[in-house]
Amino acid sequence: MMPRTRCDRTPAWAALQTSFNTRGRTFDARAAFASDAQRFETFSQSAPYVFADLSKNLIDAETQQLLLDLADQTGVAQHRDAMFAGDAINSTEQRAVLHSLLRTPACGTAATSTPALNEKWGQVHATLNAMLVYAQAVRADEAITDVVNIGIGGSDLGPQMAVLALDAFVLPGKRFHFVSNVDGHELAATLKHLKPESTLFLIASKTFTTIETMTNAQSAKRWFESLGGTDIARHFAALTTNVAAAHAFGISTTFGFWDWVGGRYSVWSAIGLPLAIAIGADGFRAFLAGAHEMDAHFCSAPLAQNLPVRLGLLDVWYRNFHGFSSRSIAPYHSALRRLPAYLQQLEMESNGKRVDTTGALLPYATAPVLWGEPGTNGQHAYFQMLHQGTDVVPVEFIAVKTPQHALAGHHDLLLANVVAQAQALMTGQADAGGHRNFPGNRPSTFLMLDALTPASLGALIALQEHRVFVSGAVWGINSFDQWGVELGKVLARDIEPRLSSGEMTALDGSTAGLLARLRTEQGTS
Ligand code: F6P
Repeated sequence: MMPRTRCDRTPAWAALQTSFNTRGRTFDARAAFASDAQRFETFSQSAPYVFADLSKNLIDAETQQLLLDLADQTGVAQHRDAMFAGDAINSTEQRAVLHSLLRTPACGTAATSTPALNEKWGQVHATLNAMLVYAQAVRADEAITDVVNIGIGGSDLGPQMAVLALDAFVLPGKRFHFVSNVDGHELAATLKHLKPESTLFLIASKTFTTIETMTNAQSAKRWFESLGGTDIARHFAALTTNVAAAHAFGISTTFGFWDWVGGRYSVWSAIGLPLAIAIGADGFRAFLAGAHEMDAHFCSAPLAQNLPVRLGLLDVWYRNFHGFSSRSIAPYHSALRRLPAYLQQLEMESNGKRVDTTGALLPYATAPVLWGEPGTNGQHAYFQMLHQGTDVVPVEFIAVKTPQHALAGHHDLLLANVVAQAQALMTGQADAGGHRNFPGNRPSTFLMLDALTPASLGALIALQEHRVFVSGAVWGINSFDQWGVELGKVLARDIEPRLSSGEMTALDGSTAGLLARLRTEQGTS
């Protein structure tokens, strides 16, 4: 892999720091609008299915140019091209990062320019075709009324978010359930309403070793068999890169994918099967096609008009120069209610890193905390803090022009609220008394979709993937591993037997104290 210059050692970084100190710190978006009638046009960007108004951000043409220089000097475009070319940019695992290939519709394009990519593309499409045939068969099978996805992290959040988001397209007569937590309450609450003969379990796990998923899968199988279920091949399917482990588990119906698909980037693979069953083969292909259009935009639009690039650079500007430590996601569409959770994994598992690709400690901040709720609910909970709290939190509003219901009056009210919130954050309100004073000049980005469809959702998700890529590339981190989740898994394996044995050797005082108390509560000591 080509060595890249660390962002804080580039001339652009120093120039950004100077610019921030001299002008950026006191930049006022209200004054910027007053002096520039073109500001909305200059700082808005159309991309496939998504229109973005960036004009309420704390940014001017000079900052934008310096950020583009930063992208240039840190080799963002080259890193992007290396990803699409199938280079092993996931350096700690020596893996390619090719989720974009999962949504590449045809061979022979630039995305499949080498024999190796061609071969992978062939495998992708063979699996996709088989999976979609299966999805159509399940849709046609009226005896199956409930589909239960058992998986966690990327094997849960993507399909769950997408099935909810595309509710308007979901086949009537089928219910979809998502069980992720090892907490038995979740599986028990789901099973309570199900019958083995009408249930299809999809065991979704890239590795097929994740303890939560394996535990839930075992319990689901026991439940199925204890109620007289025998036909595992009909009622269980596995979605995994580890087909051998699925077979060993006793599941013969399997759909594979590959180690070059990261868990949090896997909704486009066999992990998307619940979505394919829910919205059908054509719907799933439209979802892939929307994402592919965003891939094409990311690969070909000049960086200055490239929406993922502009968003990712803005993220760097806020995190490293303004020092903002979080970003709030406000989707004004209740069907997008799991989007914040999905984006949390995407951003924080990808870019929550403190070392560069060589393992050296970084002296600057990386991923912000992501959080949010669908509008307008958030307005009546934490928006108080967004407007008047001591921290500045950039907000990303997502609005959808066309509703999917016919209830009079609601949608205009919803849209009025999302526009008003963005306006209020920026304009603020002067009040000498203090309590009613809104400082204003609080930044927000406004993403707008014409309609929430499989294609526009695909594009929106791909946009988010690529903006995370851009900030990760500037920061010089590996956005595609997740070693930070391993230690807790190892320690849980050590602690679990101690709950029954009471063995406390080599534990710190707090851990031992908590375990002793939990054992007392359980009546085991
Ligand atoms: O624990 C983190 C993680 O590895 C995620 O990256 C992944 O999405 C999730 O666990 C589930 O992993 P798997 O699909 O292998 O069960």
